[in-house]
Amino acid sequence: MLNANTERLNELQAAIDALPRIPLANLPTPLEHCPRMSAEVGGPTLWVKRDDLTGLAMGGNKTRMFEYVLGQVKADGMDTVVGGAAVQSNYCRQLAAACAKAGLDCHLVLRRVRGEKDDQIQGGILLDLVVGAHVTVVDAPRWPELGELVRAKAEELSNQGKKVFTARVGNESGLGLYAVSYAAAAIELVKQAEELDLKIDELWLCSSDTTQAGLAVGLKHMESPIKLVGVPALPEPVMPGWTFEECIGSIANESAELLGLSTRLDPSELISLTDYVGPGYGVMDDTHREALRLVGRTEGLLLDPVYTSKMVSGLLDHIRTGRISGDENIVFLHTGGLPALFAYNEELHLTLEVTT
Ligand SMILES: Cc1ncc(COP(=O)(O)O)c(C=O)c1O
Repeated sequence: MLNANTERLNELQAAIDALPRIPLANLPTPLEHCPRMSAEVGGPTLWVKRDDLTGLAMGGNKTRMFEYVLGQVKADGMDTVVGGAAVQSNYCRQLAAACAKAGLDCHLVLRRVRGEKDDQIQGGILLDLVVGAHVTVVDAPRWPELGELVRAKAEELSNQGKKVFTARVGNESGLGLYAVSYAAAAIELVKQAEELDLKIDELWLCSSDTTQAGLAVGLKHMESPIKLVGVPALPEPVMPGWTFEECIGSIANESAELLGLSTRLDPSELISLTDYVGPGYGVMDDTHREALRLVGRTEGLLLDPVYTSKMVSGLLDHIRTGRISGDENIVFLHTGGLPALFAYNEELHLTLEVTT
């Protein structure tokens, strides 16, 4: 194979297949060529892996993850899930939809990050409500404080006799299981590339932890030469005092252990480019807006304002400054997040010609 060792791929697949899983995602997601975007930037040949099309309440990377996480929750006989993140959280939107599909009661505690704009029923939070989640919006200064509120909600429901699974950010353990789904996605990608006779040089994505961890452990186990480049959307990891590479490496190793594989990653083997976050999590700058509009204008493809537009701004910067050469094949992973676009109408700085 062009991008992996076949024997190692089969070994990884067998280890993944041994875990409980419920089918939630539309797989495989397409791998699409971006000829007009490639021509516009005058650089490498660009491809997009469409994980925005995984399904569940408008898709995204978490849908793959909940196949394994809720597979285990169901296997353990739980009936209720409590989770939390920012108000426009894609994790929570897909969790809510996954719970609906799996027949689990879902409670979300969501943190305001954009002031009173976050009190509007718009974007992701609208979808949370449509798929039947019980939603509370709170002020929490940082992620650890939100975690406490999520755990308090879980305790309240346990005291009522529910069998509760506490999800992120109330429970930051078991992240290796989330990442397993992206080791599986790495297999999916190298198989698709094989069919296209495509040798991938680099795979870019926006991630601060589980997505990159899964791809990293999957690619390393398969002895793949693909260079993995992560761009976080947060200025610092959810785990205080850690670097992104340490977080991602530790989740990757937890994942390998869970799969019974001897592959391990050292933080020094990982790339996490923190230069493209801009003013802060969930806040766009002009480079993010430019990336979003360039991809929209050239490929008719929608990026999201919080994650993928930041990653593509980094990719464009690397192309324009010659750090990626014209003869390379670059795949970028679209991890979803599209419902937030509608809640970011002002931040996109779009103008409309209106006649009276
Ligand atoms: C659209 C989108 N892209 C990327 C990510 C990053 O995923 P992670 O840091 O869990 O790997 C998220 C996480 O919420 C997301 O919603």
